[in-house]
Amino acid sequence: MGMIGGGRDAFIGAIHRIAFNMDGQVEMVAGALSVHPDVAVSSGQELFLDEERIYTDYKTMLAKEAVMPTNKKIDFISIVTPNFVHFDPAMLALEKGFHVAIEKPITFSLEEAKKLKGKLEETGLTLLLTHTYTGYPMIKEARQLVKSGLFGEIRKIYVEYPQGWLSTFLEGANNKQAAWRTDPKRSGIAGAMGDIGTHAFNMAEYVTGVKTTKVCADLNVVVDGRMLDDDGAVLLKFDNGASGVLMATQIAAGEENNIKIRVYGEKGGLEWKQEDANTLLVKWLDKPAEIYRAGAGYLNSFTKHNCRTPAGHPEGYLEAFGNHYRNFALTLQAKMKGEKPQAEWLDFPGIEEGIRGMAFIESVVASGKSKEKWIDFKV
Ligand SMILES: NC(=O)c1ccc[n+]([C@@H]2O[C@H](COP(=O)([O-])OP(=O)(O)OC[C@H]3O[C@@H](n4cnc5c(N)ncnc54)[C@H](O)[C@@H]3O)[C@@H](O)[C@H]2O)c1
Repeated sequence: MGMIGGGRDAFIGAIHRIAFNMDGQVEMVAGALSVHPDVAVSSGQELFLDEERIYTDYKTMLAKEAVMPTNKKIDFISIVTPNFVHFDPAMLALEKGFHVAIEKPITFSLEEAKKLKGKLEETGLTLLLTHTYTGYPMIKEARQLVKSGLFGEIRKIYVEYPQGWLSTFLEGANNKQAAWRTDPKRSGIAGAMGDIGTHAFNMAEYVTGVKTTKVCADLNVVVDGRMLDDDGAVLLKFDNGASGVLMATQIAAGEENNIKIRVYGEKGGLEWKQEDANTLLVKWLDKPAEIYRAGAGYLNSFTKHNCRTPAGHPEGYLEAFGNHYRNFALTLQAKMKGEKPQAEWLDFPGIEEGIRGMAFIESVVASGKSKEKWIDFKV
């Protein structure tokens, strides 16, 4: 694998490395790790990459790796750059024959995401979109419970992602993370809705299997001088008639990363929050609630496949990330051997989730500006 971005000047690249190193299925052998050539070189050296595979720009990396012998060259690239450097490297990587792992939001626009889909179909290559939170085992359990029909028809979905770290004008205080996330030229048309609203949206559709058809959004810029939304709420309508509420905010002072989902059907529902990730609360209309726990023997095969430790040990953020990489790697290996990947391995977010994520961003921004109450969710 070769990485683009993720040098010593970055946040999420290091998390990716912990995640894909967990299972010994992926080895990082090349990198164009920073937009700053000196940082790209020093970061590659710190990670013990071969000198000739430390690149100072991703175009050179992709060109050189593409002509290496099959047993040496990279099989896939991992793109962990800010949003405005997603589409070009992803498209180029696909053109050069590499599979792609990429951060969310997948591109800058829905149109670009559709172009990536076209290229994936043309080449038969595979894409992993790292929507971390759907890698948690108890989220897998939630999806399978809903799918089994146990709750009856799904009627109501509440999903929220509150953070507090952008409660002040951090972009003015030399914080690089805040600077690009609040800059429309580098982040895209949405702020909080693109950065974390997309995670909440992905979780709502993943757990319930229903698809959004309409949105009604209220987006706010709370901190003076900020260029993009830092807070918002969205009412949603789904294709089965259910309705929902999604909240994403980065100005909820004191909140950390407490993404949470509640789903209610005709007969019962469920509740999960990241800050107690090993627990899935299942509620019933006519009997006492149940507590499902990670690592237990009664869980379904998708959940068990994504549990790493005996019951009682936290299955955390890093492990959830690792689950996506492991499933992606197992799928790639099966495909390379001409074998059929298991259903559990194929359960990772990809291009369809990327397209729906971009449609979410474009729909909620349009709705936020619109005088109409509801607007169609257009893919
Ligand atoms: N899945 C998650 O939970 C999660 C969490 C945080 C960030 N993200 C996403 O990850 C991406 C990166 O976010 P971050 O917080 O790590 O950003 P960051 O600013 O900390 O790091 C970005 C890295 O990309 C490098 N870079 C920029 N342009 C480049 C180029 N042309 N070539 C090579 N490297 C280049 C920078 O030098 C830096 O190393 C974003 O798309 C963000 O939305 C996802």
